[in-house]
This record gives sequence, structure tokens and C-alpha cells, in this order.
Amino acid sequence: MSSHAFSTEGLTYCPFMPVFGAPQVMFERGLGTELWDTDGKRYLDFLCGIAVTSLGHANPAVADAVCRQANTLLHVSNFFSNPVATEAAVKLVALLGEATGSEGQVFFCNSGAEANEAALKLARKFGGRGRHGVVSAYGSFHGRTLAALAATGQPTKHEPFHPMPDGFRHVPFNDLSALEAAIDPTIAAVLLEPVQGEGGVVPADPQYLRDVRALCDERGLLLMLDEVQTGFARTGTWFGFQHAGVVPDVVTLAKAMGNGFPVGAVWAKREVASVFQPGDHGSTYSGTAIATAAVVAVIDEMRRLDAPALARARGVELTAALRELPGVVEVRGQGLLLAVELQAGLDAKAVYLAALEAGLVTNAVSATALRLAPPLTVSSQEIVEAVTILRHVLEELTK
Ligand SMILES: Cc1ncc(COP(=O)(O)O)c(C=O)c1O
Repeated sequence: MSSHAFSTEGLTYCPFMPVFGAPQVMFERGLGTELWDTDGKRYLDFLCGIAVTSLGHANPAVADAVCRQANTLLHVSNFFSNPVATEAAVKLVALLGEATGSEGQVFFCNSGAEANEAALKLARKFGGRGRHGVVSAYGSFHGRTLAALAATGQPTKHEPFHPMPDGFRHVPFNDLSALEAAIDPTIAAVLLEPVQGEGGVVPADPQYLRDVRALCDERGLLLMLDEVQTGFARTGTWFGFQHAGVVPDVVTLAKAMGNGFPVGAVWAKREVASVFQPGDHGSTYSGTAIATAAVVAVIDEMRRLDAPALARARGVELTAALRELPGVVEVRGQGLLLAVELQAGLDAKAVYLAALEAGLVTNAVSATALRLAPPLTVSSQEIVEAVTILRHVLEELTK
């Protein structure tokens, strides 16, 4: 039985399936970078629900759009359309058009895993019978549904669920020769994250991404990039692949795209997207009005604020401040998707717990590294406050 805190309400056991560890805090309210728990204690949120609430909690533009839409039209099914889904699709296609110079089409879904599922099906349809394989990287994370899990390069996560769907191969990240060696006539696509988020905030070498692009062109493979964590300005460009100057064939998105409203999407170049025919894929909630209202608001607000520039500017400040901390041996990542590698003997979980107790939300992304992903709207003053909390925690723990 899990030990989630829960209001008894007549129940004598925890009502949640025990797939998550026991939560440390019950959060009740948020505003911008701040969160408050049910005891009224204030925290600075330097995790953003793992790179989700990139425009901050209770963002007025997103909240208004969602509330207005809830009072207008929530959902109509895909037998019909609605103006807000069309608007969101046009805006998303424009955003990716600017980043890739390509015409594309989108399919809306509800999460990152679903976006990757759609991409994986697209790859299979594109490759054709006998050419359905996908190569991804060790250390990657693509989601928890079965195919997305099979693509995820973490064998320990597969272990309880064998047999995995077939057609998935994994190779070391940032290793072109290993990728080249894994490609045979059964492979249809390569799926990579521009920065491995769950894998410890490990950026792809820009030259590696360019070489992978060239290899995919040479072998007629799709380059599919999972931008679920890196997309929507998090790394200082609208999409992570822009750092390398590569143009992917397929891009998967979720997380920050709804600023907390559950929504995802797969984008593909038109010639790739067109392999899908009516009936090949779908979802009751694809393009539902309430979710796409959040997407429109997020894109408009991020453009208005120039979110990539914010991520770059605050990212430089945060990186520089973190490098000065005791017990920190490396700060890696891009923009505001950062990890702090701790010196030997420091346990990232202990640092995370002590920081949380002191009012700073982060996450131990590995045994030795702490992940920081504050809202792109974080202020310089909030960065100073957060780093001061971390300094005290690290001073205490390195004593
Ligand atoms: C790169 C990446 N892909 C896919 C996913 C899965 O997204 P979701 O949890 O919305 O299914 C995640 C979640 O952390 C992710 O970081």
C-alpha cells in the first residue's frame, strides 16, 4: 500500500494506485513561480511540474482562455471541428514552419506518451510492411504507454512488462557509429530527444544531431525528435533542435504546450503526415476545444513575451549562480532546463528533500544530480532567492 496523504472521507486506504512514491507535499495554490501548500507554507517552484508550467502558475492569459472556453464549448468529437482547434493547429504549424522552414500538419492528443505513440505509428506506416523499426537512445524517456515505453532506452523500466512490442532498438546517445551500426533495412526512423531530460539533462551534441540528420537522409529514414520536455522555448529556442540547426521530419510535443492543461501534439512534414489516412489514428479528445484554447493562449503569450529570449537570459543568470555553489561540480543543460551535478558523497535526493523543506521545489533527476526547470517568467530576484536556499542547503550538507 502506498502512503499518499489523503483525506479519509470514509476511506481506510489510499485511493491512488501505488505507481508514484509517497508525495512530500500537498500543494493547494500557485501564482507565477510561487506555490503554497495546504498549511499555507510558500515555496519557489523551480521544477514546474517537470517543465510544464513554463508561463507560471495561474497564468492569467491561459486561465482566462480556459475559463472562457469552458463557458463556451468544451468538446464536440472529431466528426466535427471547432474554431479554437483550427486556430491552435494554424498557430502550431506556423511556429514549427518558422523553426523548420517546412510545411507540416499536426495531430493533437493528450500527453507526451500519446504524441510519441502517434509518431511511432506514423513511422510504421511511412516505412511500410517489414520496415517498421525505430532506433532510439539509451537513457532516453518517451513515455509510459507500451510502444513509447519500448522506445524508452531504460531497460529497468521494461523489465516488469516483457514482452515489449518488437521493432525497437537502442544505441548509446551521442554515438553516431553505434547508430549507423544499428540501421538495417527493417528500420524506418530514428527517435531522439534534443536534451535527454529524464536521462539526467544530457544535451545532444549539435554535430551528432546534424550527422544523424545526414544519415537519415542517406538511408531514407525519418528523423523524429521528442520535444516533449525541451519544446516551447524551454532551452532558449522555440524547439531544442534549433540549437543544432537541424530540421526533423517529425516532432512530438506536450508539457508546456498547455501550461498544465493536458495536451500534446505530433507535427510532421506534410509528405510524412500524408501517409496517415482516415481511420489510421485518432483520439476522442484530439483537438478538443478546451485543450486547444490553452494551446492558443500559450503560443500567443509565449510570442508576446519572447519566451525563448527569457529562457536564454534567465538561464545564463541561473547557470552562473549555480556554478558558484559549494558541492556543485558541473551545471549542464540549455536555457532553463538545467542539472546540477553534485560532488561525490552528496546525495541528490537528500539535497532535494532539504531544499523542499526550505521552500524550494526541484527534483533529483539521478542519484547525483538535481534538475532545475523554473518558469520562463522567473524573475532575477527569484533566481537569487532560490540559489540562496540551495546555498544554505549545500553548506549544511557539505559540512
Ligand atoms: C522527453 C519526454 N517524452 C515523453 C514524455 C512522456 O510525457 P507524458 O508524461 O505527458 O506522457 C516525457 C515526460 O517526462 C518526456 O520528458
